Amino acid sequence: MSQDALKRAVAEAALAHVEPGEILGVGTGSTANFFIEGLARMRDDIPGAVASSQATADRLRKIGIEVLDLNTVGSISVYVDGADEINHALEMIKGGGAALTREKIVAAVARKFVCICDASKRVEQLGRFPLPVEVIPMARSYVARELVKLGGNPVYRDGVVTDNGNVILDVWNLPMPVARQMEERLNNITGVVTNGMFALRPADVLLLGTTSGVETHLRPA
Ligand code: 5RP
Repeated sequence: MSQDALKRAVAEAALAHVEPGEILGVGTGSTANFFIEGLARMRDDIPGAVASSQATADRLRKIGIEVLDLNTVGSISVYVDGADEINHALEMIKGGGAALTREKIVAAVARKFVCICDASKRVEQLGRFPLPVEVIPMARSYVARELVKLGGNPVYRDGVVTDNGNVILDVWNLPMPVARQMEERLNNITGVVTNGMFALRPADVLLLGTTSGVETHLRPA
């Protein structure tokens, strides 16, 4: 089974979490794109959606779903998005597609976060995937020096400008035995907008695509 087939399978499974008549949040990336494809069949049941990126907003509009400004929305029933890595506590590294800040904002508002991934994303320990950090452009060198002090090896994602007009540093080999602590620590560096560690707000449900089917994992209490 190809990786795309696994992504498509979890995206289809996520449609069961969409609550008809409720506003939902939609993530960014290739797995989220399969979800948007499926969402097209439900468009008459969806009053609107909040997108985690400009690219996702464009795709939603193309299939006839109204894209709403988060500031006009009181609540989001469910947020469906992929991840670059996810552990057993359903903590994630996200931001491979540079959409981490808006993803984190939509996830913060959503009552339920459903993560959709193929099995390659499941890890025992987060950190093999470099941790994306969104940075105000003028602070890039300063933040990079601070990340080195924390033991990481930041690499500037050349040529990428986020939807918010910022830049991305991908941090390799950052020691992070406790994901939540590292998330907070990085947030405290002046010039950092967001980091791609999703541990303070992990997923609630993981739909994991494996060769033997879609597994459902709930966040441990
Ligand atoms: C984008 C993300 C994506 O969810 C993550 O990169 C996974 O992408 P894909 O579904 O293409 O593997 O965080 O910023």
